[in-house]
Amino acid sequence: MRLVFLGPPGAGKGTQARLLEQRFGLRQISTGDILRANRTRGTELGKRAEGYMRRGELVPDDLVIHMIESELEHTGAGFVMDGFPRTVAQAEALDVMLARRRQPLTAAVLFSGDRAALIRRLASRWTNPRNGRTYNAITNPPKVAGIDDEDGGELIQREDDRADTIAKRLEVYDAQTRPLAAYYRRTGKLLEVDALASVEAVADRIAGAIGAEPAGT
Ligand code: AP5
Repeated sequence: MRLVFLGPPGAGKGTQARLLEQRFGLRQISTGDILRANRTRGTELGKRAEGYMRRGELVPDDLVIHMIESELEHTGAGFVMDGFPRTVAQAEALDVMLARRRQPLTAAVLFSGDRAALIRRLASRWTNPRNGRTYNAITNPPKVAGIDDEDGGELIQREDDRADTIAKRLEVYDAQTRPLAAYYRRTGKLLEVDALASVEAVADRIAGAIGAEPAGT
């Protein structure tokens, strides 16, 4: 199964992609996590992406398309992309890459949710910078504040989760990413999921929409 997750910041795309990876064996490909890892390692890509990310703007298409192309080289038949595509140019490039591999996209899952709730989620998000795992101070707190339950390391608040940058990211989503819903609706690939429910309820809705069965069944 090959999926892309679409939806505004804070809709829960990363949370649900990680669950799909654990439950169904689909590889999670998160462009945000890959870019942040490059920034931490100080690679050329990380340096070029840094300013855009700090301002809440999109990194230029050619950089992320190239990045996805090389990710696909190391990916088998099943994946879930969280954070890509984000522009029509990226969606078109992905279609070309998948056609070349004779592995067409199964579906694009669009997460929807009320703006005020999404902003609250982002403002209370805590992230493990080593692997991208997220917690939420209100809905899913770690056992010890500021510490990851599993690796015992420090959690951080992302610098783009400041109120002014969240507002910018939502604006960018409306202008550049929202049109993708029409793009995938036209090809009959769009599935819409209301993301304002518990993590488990949203996961059930997604599994129902894509007709997924756990890996090995
Ligand atoms: P990216 O990291 O992709 O950020 P985003 O799309 O803005 O999405 P988020 O990670 O903020 O939210 P999410 O939907 O994954 O929510 P999450 O599961 O964490 O991108 C960052 C930047 O990188 C971009 O601004 C851009 O600069 C660049 N970039 C990335 N991809 C790019 C591309 N393709 N092209 C160009 N530039 C690109 O959940 C949020 C919080 O809510 C967490 O605390 C979580 O615990 C909680 N939560 C989740 N689900 C629920 C629930 N059901 N109920 C209650 N709480 C919940």
